[in-house]
Amino acid sequence: MTVSARGIGRSKVILLGEHSVVYGQPALAAALGLGVRVRAEQAERPSLAVPAWGVEVGPGEADDLSRVFAALLAEAPPAVRSARLIVDPEVPSRAGLGSSAALAVAMIRALASLSGETLSDDEVERRAGLAETIFHGRASGIDAAVACRGGALRFVRGEPPRSVGCPLLPAVVAQVEPRSPTSEMVALVGRALEAEPDRIGAIFAEIGVLVDSAVSRLEAGDLTGLGGLMGHNHRLLRELGVSTEALDDGCHAALAAGAVGAKLTGAGGGGCLIALAPGCDEAVEAALSPRSLWVRRVLLGS
Ligand code: MEV
Repeated sequence: MTVSARGIGRSKVILLGEHSVVYGQPALAAALGLGVRVRAEQAERPSLAVPAWGVEVGPGEADDLSRVFAALLAEAPPAVRSARLIVDPEVPSRAGLGSSAALAVAMIRALASLSGETLSDDEVERRAGLAETIFHGRASGIDAAVACRGGALRFVRGEPPRSVGCPLLPAVVAQVEPRSPTSEMVALVGRALEAEPDRIGAIFAEIGVLVDSAVSRLEAGDLTGLGGLMGHNHRLLRELGVSTEALDDGCHAALAAGAVGAKLTGAGGGGCLIALAPGCDEAVEAALSPRSLWVRRVLLGS
């Protein structure tokens, strides 16, 4: 057993298919090229520190992070259950970028590496799923799949994710405002489905069709076609009630600066948008900067 080890989990964007994926429709997601890193050290007592957030917890406390820490320690070999974990996030939390799944995957991998345990991707994803249920309630598992596997994935709840072959996609991700918790946005869409099953069910089915067209466009390298489908998905998300003025305005600004497609990404209710920006990522970043709390040029799928 080593005295110190590292793990990484990738953050993600959903290119198409958030929310409907919770109800069995396919979604298309890609790793962001940024993530969460965790260093694990042998210690006397278990602790988890996130210096960038000014947070330090133990496994016995009532907050979600402590409960996740306790759940992941319980899954780890006994020899590392008193480890100290130090977290270095490269993305904002609660922004729709899958930082909680990336954190869980990084913790799982750091603990496994500290103990010398070899874990399959399926097992990493299973453990990350336990954490996602604590953080978000009814999670589809898409964030954990990308956090663990990277690349671009076609994901259907309960099925093995399929890797989508594609070039790295130049894009700009921008957090335009703080965001409501994922669990609240998922519950909001759930209530809409209960109230209007036919209308909301039809929107979910339409998004499912868009996702499969988008997978084909992506595999064919047709980024303009993909961008058009993203815009269509954004309009359907607005109909579901999860977009906001700031997200709509940011998408317009990105398109005006040359992006081939832009939409909210993640659970919505604020948070992030993703703009596909081949050959124009600097102009799109410049257009989004004044409207954003956080903005980055990224290569999706790495
Ligand atoms: C969150 O990144 C995406 C949602 O579809 C929830 C989920 O799939 O777990 C809103």
